[in-house]
Amino acid sequence: MSYTLTTAASLQGTITVPGDKSISHRAVMFGSLAEGDTHITGFLMGEDCLSTISCFRKMGIDIDVSDEEVIVHGAGLHGLKAPSELLYTGNSGTTTRLLCGILAGQPFPSTLNGDASIQKRPMGRIIKPLHLMGADIEGKDGNLCPLTIKPAQLQGIRYEMPVASAQLKSSILLAGLFADGKTTVIEPAASRDHTERMLRGLGAKVESNGTEITLTPPETLHAVDVDVPGDISSAAYFLVAGLILPDSDIIIRNVGINPTRTGILDALESMGANIERLNERGTVEPVCDLRVRCSKLHGTVIGGDIIPRLIDELPVLAVAAAFAEGETVIRDAQELKVKESNRIAAMTAELSRTGADVVETEDGMIIHGGKKLHGAAFTSYADHRVAMSMAVCALACEGDSSIDDPACVAISYPTFFETLNSLKNN
Ligand code: S3P
Repeated sequence: MSYTLTTAASLQGTITVPGDKSISHRAVMFGSLAEGDTHITGFLMGEDCLSTISCFRKMGIDIDVSDEEVIVHGAGLHGLKAPSELLYTGNSGTTTRLLCGILAGQPFPSTLNGDASIQKRPMGRIIKPLHLMGADIEGKDGNLCPLTIKPAQLQGIRYEMPVASAQLKSSILLAGLFADGKTTVIEPAASRDHTERMLRGLGAKVESNGTEITLTPPETLHAVDVDVPGDISSAAYFLVAGLILPDSDIIIRNVGINPTRTGILDALESMGANIERLNERGTVEPVCDLRVRCSKLHGTVIGGDIIPRLIDELPVLAVAAAFAEGETVIRDAQELKVKESNRIAAMTAELSRTGADVVETEDGMIIHGGKKLHGAAFTSYADHRVAMSMAVCALACEGDSSIDDPACVAISYPTFFETLNSLKNN
């Protein structure tokens, strides 16, 4: 069933966004490998993170889920049990790639697979370094899911990553937990560092020297409770909506502002955005409240090392660019082609339906913004971030719009439309 969106005059109010997806996944994974119980508050009850819970339950981990918290009863580094069935990772690249790293070092065989989108996403990038560590993994056609993993004794490696990807980095480091000797990864540019921060918190020795990260395999990991901050990737939809709708003024409470995730704030500020960081706090993962007010945006260039710091926000940044005066160039973003959908093709096609001037390039988009745009019937490509980005766009278009498959937002943000409507009604 499609969802109808009408033009919004302005958005006002105070909201919170659901917990960070990357941190929620890792809290369950690392909690399962730790000694003791991990109490997780603010856990994202999105479909992707529920896929992670389901996979670890299939390996014998007791996980209690209530409205207040998730409790992971850790089995220790060597406590996972052989699953009696396939581990199904749904739509989640993070579950698939990080879990594969963990499974590579287990004394039992396993098979991983996910939905139609996961079956198209490249797995060769993790298979190659895991093979170098001695892992026994086979992928369909060498590069795709399903992944079949057999027991193997792993060796630490030193690996120069061809892409800046936190999923790749984490997959290798997690395999390194079970390897003989140290494992070092070198990134072409810094990607999100939640794995490093959280493993350190559990007692592992993880040394970062610029973009070179070295893990020494620990004897044990010790459970530590996790209070998951709000996801800046989810906040991004309201940041852009608040910027492009007249007289808007929104406060988003308790948003994670780990510097490896704040590229969206830097990019929007370079476009003239008025975004304030209030009440900065937090230790392992820094947090603040964000206040955004409608601003006159202008075009910018987004490329280079900032890309991994805003990779998931590029679809909604493209929407901001369509409402900004002048030219915005997004480049060095080839990775967008291998996300839940080809996000370069998807956003170019969907923004074009509104009359926006958008050209697809090899590694991004060129957008000439500032025209009046009109509503349209949008396709989501079963991609949560495309659906939410086009919902934000629809609010600032003249006339009604619709979005097919609005339910796909449940991957990362099940209450997205409710929160959006709460701001409209104020
Ligand atoms: C994630 C890393 C990013 C991001 C994804 C979550 C993670 O993917 O797009 O939504 O939790 O490590 P890549 O590392 O493959 O770029």
